[in-house]
Amino acid sequence: MLPVVRVTDLRVELGPIALKSPLVAAAGTVGSVVDFTEVTDFSLYGAAVAKSVSGEPWTGRPAPRVGPAGVGMLNGIGIQNPGIDAWIEKVAPDLAAVPTEVWGSAVGNSPEEFARVAAGYADAGLPAVEINLSCPNLDGHMFALDPELAAEVVAAVRNAVDVPIGAKLSPNSENIVSIADACATAGADWVVLTNTAWGAGIDIQTRRPTLSGVIGGYSGIPIKPLALRCVIEVHRAMPELPILGCGGISGGDDVIEYFLAGASAAGIGTIHFAEPRAARRILRELRSRLRKLGVDRLADLTGAMET
Ligand SMILES: Cc1cc2nc3c(=O)[nH]c(=O)nc-3n(C[C@H](O)[C@H](O)[C@H](O)COP(=O)(O)O)c2cc1C
Repeated sequence: MLPVVRVTDLRVELGPIALKSPLVAAAGTVGSVVDFTEVTDFSLYGAAVAKSVSGEPWTGRPAPRVGPAGVGMLNGIGIQNPGIDAWIEKVAPDLAAVPTEVWGSAVGNSPEEFARVAAGYADAGLPAVEINLSCPNLDGHMFALDPELAAEVVAAVRNAVDVPIGAKLSPNSENIVSIADACATAGADWVVLTNTAWGAGIDIQTRRPTLSGVIGGYSGIPIKPLALRCVIEVHRAMPELPILGCGGISGGDDVIEYFLAGASAAGIGTIHFAEPRAARRILRELRSRLRKLGVDRLADLTGAMET
């Protein structure tokens, strides 16, 4: 008789969306997605989120725009992008060749701008849109720090599109629960916890800041505890609100930690810059660890932290 091989079930549901894999490539860390297809196997991801796009073209910040910061990374790109009309014309036609679903990411300076971008994505056939309320590199306010502003943006996007929408929030929010609640009430199907944290670095030889914008987004392994704090607090307060956990995931154990905290899917970001094919290793580690823990279905771990 053949031995029975138990297959670990890694399929998950993020609100209305069923994902064949728990991994979601995080916005901005795989370019437009299309330009990473040579180096990353997107069939291993449940979805990949394209870099944020605004209503009009944005030039972004001058160099230097990225730099190392210990085992983490600083970026201050300032959402350089061609604007939604050019994006639809030049990038959208190539998305059909990507072997997973590609979600859009909308950014803007007003609720109307966010809504226009989201409508453009939906018209172009994208199945879901993330609302980037939490970019740390815009000189204006960060929508994700104010529940009313965040809700205004989400409501405008909700009115503009029928596709599922996620609200991407900031680890710098003190009141992460009230922000998440405002976004959910305004129509977000899930929250992404989180974007980068505000950070900075200085070269002591030149005395110049690491980033031209001085303050930028800090990401990678060191921000995992900051994002996990947000996941735990939001899941405790709103256990029904789906969470895409993101921040510092570099291995299979990190994915499990996010699920225990309350996440239903795991965003993979900065690790792509050091290891563009990290997803294969992360999934291997995840399967192996779940087998050792005697867990047959990853989705069963959401919110299973013991206190
Ligand atoms: C270079 C770089 C560019 C990014 N661009 C975007 C972006 O365009 N839109 C967005 O929502 N998040 C953006 N992010 C944030 C990531 O999607 C992710 O939320 C964050 O880096 C935390 O995850 P990580 O620690 O795994 O990288 C960017 C991050 C980096 C490092």
